[in-house]
Amino acid sequence: MKRLIAGMASAVLAAALTAGSAFAQSYPNRTITMIVPFAAGGPSDAIARLVAQSMSTTLKQQVVIENVAGAGGTTGASRLTRAEPDGYTLLIHHVALAAGASLYKSLPYDTLGDIEAVGLVNYGPMVVTTKKDYPAADAKALFAKLKADGPKTTAAHAGVGSNSHLCNMLLQQTLDTKFTEAAYRGTGPAMNDLMAGQVDLLCDQSTTAVPQIQGNTIKAFAVTSANRLSVLPDVPAMHEAGFPNFEFVIWHGLYAPKGTPKEAIETLNKALQVALNDENVKARFADVGTQTFPKGERSPQAHRARFEKEVATWRDVVAKAGVSIGN
Ligand code: MLT
Repeated sequence: MKRLIAGMASAVLAAALTAGSAFAQSYPNRTITMIVPFAAGGPSDAIARLVAQSMSTTLKQQVVIENVAGAGGTTGASRLTRAEPDGYTLLIHHVALAAGASLYKSLPYDTLGDIEAVGLVNYGPMVVTTKKDYPAADAKALFAKLKADGPKTTAAHAGVGSNSHLCNMLLQQTLDTKFTEAAYRGTGPAMNDLMAGQVDLLCDQSTTAVPQIQGNTIKAFAVTSANRLSVLPDVPAMHEAGFPNFEFVIWHGLYAPKGTPKEAIETLNKALQVALNDENVKARFADVGTQTFPKGERSPQAHRARFEKEVATWRDVVAKAGVSIGN
């Protein structure tokens, strides 16, 4: 009997290994969809398009972008968790995925339970920017005016829980004031309205803020990293502007639905690493003040560890701030 059971177990194992290796040999054999949970033209979209282009070449299959915007990035995440876990639907997302787990009271998915980490992509700061004719000469004057003006200030963001929203939240807490907030489906459209002078303030990722600052279409007052960015040498870090505890560095990761075959995750991770080693991608990242993760932190396991840590960190932040969305 024991021999029979052992024989059956090895047969099951052998079948699983054969199926795994057959999958690995044929994967991918059709188009892969990469969901961007914000509007086109914003920072997540820009990062996704750069990475997807290189991954398409490596994988010899198109990696196409699908913008599924709404609810601070949770609509796109929800779409991922409803997809077949077959390696053909991916999500690029940032800190908001981890923060959303505590900010939103009733998400249609279990953030850590339903989502698999594929690999870390990039990290970089936010930049506190205003419309071009905003009447403040430097960071000190801006923060004094924001504090004094309170709800007279219109502050754009990309939906509750997005990076720009979290940055606004931190700014309001730090200045002990309240802005009038305007929610968009991404900072792409929010940036358009800032450039048109329709809103006063936007704290956006350097990825899309830097080209506008350099093009002189908006004004920059502070970066949220510990140090200045070499591409914005005249813009002070928040600690130089008088806020030593204000640091907010955001990161993107690539995700798949829970249950995606391990072989697909490994293939995708390798293709992602090729993209992150690509000189063109590295140069484009550097031009806009964002960086790739060091080589030792690029495995799915390292990404998973960071993801879990951030979910826990934001659980504490959200509990302390006493904010939540939904019933
Ligand atoms: C976007 O691509 O629009 C951003 O990542 C939104 C944000 O989180 O601020």
